[in-house]
Amino acid sequence: MDLGCGTGELSVYLAELVGPEGKVIAVDPDKGRIQLARQSHSGIKNLSFEEGSAANFPGIGSKSYDIIFCNLVLHWISDKEQVFKSMFDSLKVGGRIAIQYGDDPPPFLFKAFKELSPPENAERIFQMFQYEWKAKNDQSCSLAGFEIVSSYETLGGQFVFENTEELLKWLWSTTLGVFDPSLVTKERLQRYLASYTNEDGKTACLDLRGVRRIYYLPTAGYQKAKKRPPFLYK
Ligand SMILES: C[S@@+](CC[C@H](N)C(=O)[O-])C[C@H]1O[C@@H](n2cnc3c(N)ncnc32)[C@H](O)[C@@H]1O
Repeated sequence: MDLGCGTGELSVYLAELVGPEGKVIAVDPDKGRIQLARQSHSGIKNLSFEEGSAANFPGIGSKSYDIIFCNLVLHWISDKEQVFKSMFDSLKVGGRIAIQYGDDPPPFLFKAFKELSPPENAERIFQMFQYEWKAKNDQSCSLAGFEIVSSYETLGGQFVFENTEELLKWLWSTTLGVFDPSLVTKERLQRYLASYTNEDGKTACLDLRGVRRIYYLPTAGYQKAKKRPPFLYK
């Protein structure tokens, strides 16, 4: 299962990894994303997209999954102990999870919400994020019954936006519309962009690297996934 699959790009990749004999169920609570995923990735025989969430997904508690993959979702959920427990109860004996999450807002993101949104809107956005330190998540993971095979912090994530419109669209999308581009004044935008302006005075491209990420990498299969090119939001 790909839990919190979004629009399903990684689910497609997982479907390739498990091969024709395997099957991937990709789940997300956002109706629009599931619809888009179904439209974009129809015709992949071993992949299905379903509406659901970490609290209520197909086969929850069924002890039937081999592996649950969950990328950049945990930091959107407050009750992490429950998530780990639900995953544990849904896996076969010997089943595995592979999770990546953020434990801190990437600086460019924090700065964007703070500087581009009116304060009350920014506050609402900050409250949506449920960042938790790795040590606490490790503890919740172990408490649910998992043996942690590998858990480490890494520098990862590469956010490259071609222009400010693309950045604003992405901020809108990632906050499910709570970030409102129509509230971004010209003055706010200019001030924000000033810190990303090159010496020649041009903001050719917002290249926001150096985001700390955390990976659980328990399987040989997922090691291969490291060959995937870095995130490139266009
Ligand atoms: C940053 S996106 C990651 C999408 C996908 N995993 C990827 O890596 O491309 C986070 C996703 O988590 C989903 N999400 C938010 N709360 C969730 C929950 N309680 N259970 C499952 N998914 C959730 C959102 O709808 C969103 O699609």
